[in-house]
Amino acid sequence: MAKIDERILQEDPTAPVEEGSVAEAGAGRCPGRSTRDIILADGDPVPDALLAESFAFRGDADIAFDRYTSADFFAAEMQKLWPRVWQWACRVEHLQDPGDYLVYDIGPHSILIVRTETGDIKAYPNSCLHRGTQLRASASCGNASQLRCPFHGWSWHLDGRLRDIPCRWDFPHVDDRAFALPEVRVGLWGGFVFINLDPDAPPLEQWLGVLPEHFRGGWDLSQRTIALHIQKELPTNWKAAQEAFLEAYHVMETHAQAQATASDANAQYDVFGKNVSRFVHTIGVPSPHYKGTLTEQQIFDRLRVPGGPYVLAEGETARAAAATILRRTLGQLWQVDLAGYSISEMLDSIEYHLFPNMCLFAGVSLPMVYRFRPIGMDPSRTLFDLIFLRPLSPGEAPPPPPEPVHLGVDDSYTSVPGMDPGLGAVFDQDTGNLAMQYRGFQAARKAGQTLGNFQEVRIRHLHESIDRWLA
Ligand code: FES
Ligand SMILES: [Fe+2]
Repeated sequence: MAKIDERILQEDPTAPVEEGSVAEAGAGRCPGRSTRDIILADGDPVPDALLAESFAFRGDADIAFDRYTSADFFAAEMQKLWPRVWQWACRVEHLQDPGDYLVYDIGPHSILIVRTETGDIKAYPNSCLHRGTQLRASASCGNASQLRCPFHGWSWHLDGRLRDIPCRWDFPHVDDRAFALPEVRVGLWGGFVFINLDPDAPPLEQWLGVLPEHFRGGWDLSQRTIALHIQKELPTNWKAAQEAFLEAYHVMETHAQAQATASDANAQYDVFGKNVSRFVHTIGVPSPHYKGTLTEQQIFDRLRVPGGPYVLAEGETARAAAATILRRTLGQLWQVDLAGYSISEMLDSIEYHLFPNMCLFAGVSLPMVYRFRPIGMDPSRTLFDLIFLRPLSPGEAPPPPPEPVHLGVDDSYTSVPGMDPGLGAVFDQDTGNLAMQYRGFQAARKAGQTLGNFQEVRIRHLHESIDRWLA
């Protein structure tokens, strides 16, 4: 774990309250340069999406703790939310060839997703039409020429048509057409396969809001592929788990080692419609909380950019140098030309959230995708999928996806082969608080969490969306 710089912890308790720190509701901002100022100061062209701003005050009522801990609230989510929302089930790479299948589970629901002989992707409730047995085990994947139940051997073609019933003479009452597997809605975007259990749900395109418009060109995630997949159990509710990743307010305390190189309190927060929110959090600029002064060379050295020591040219910023070196080293590693990416796209944490449980990063050196799902029917357990994408080189077909590396609650991300040790330590810090927070929810006398109006607006937005489904 990176060593903490003592100077950044030297807060002066007698210092006067910063001017402007208490502002009209929702209007307060960290003094100093904004994220937009920092990106514009880079001086290179950036996509319009990166400069878009979309924030409005959304209220300041507390968020009740029992939304995370109550069995009734969890049951309502299972009944009213999960069966009706679009959710990312897998990547297209998981279903490359006819017969490739994958089982996606959410609470009591289990969905079998299949690539058919004609190349379509179809999904079915993972339940035999004879006596209900799962056709394939939960969380499994593989290749099959037919969908055959392991109990009595009823089988279906990949496209869902009934194929065979052993002792057919005993089932004169079974009509082949009526016993085709019922279909679950499937939608494709950005190389992701989404499912929706509600046959009447509006199309995925509507659900995605601004995402297709923003994730174009160099952000097109269908042109990237899985480099690393980690699945870790987190000891908290699925909402609290993702909320730990929806704000940069925690950086100064939880990731104190990053204050010299990560701009946190002046991160930008946006809400785009009902289902999408975003933060942009710049790297290679000290936090407004940082009490020391650093030269650009010192900032660069602390970024630990791969490729060894480098002396900045006259007037060169740490951000510009880091982006240049990363374009070269990552470009060579992946055999792609990264020249078209701006400094911000190369370095910054550009994280979108898609309701209910997915985070997508647009940047190149922080190319993650997150998913947070309840495990079974337990409101206090979450399965966190952490995927790193890399760009495909020109003409490269996506390779078979790597097997997920499974981590238990107490396992460190740093133990995963291929994981950057510094980033692994950051994820350990992010998820190290969760068990204590969940216990604190239960121990509280206070009824709920009190959110910052700006920095924690994405958490409020998440709960607003949940309320719409539970209403
Ligand atoms: S339960 Fe599936 S074949 Fe009997
Ligand atoms: Fe974090």
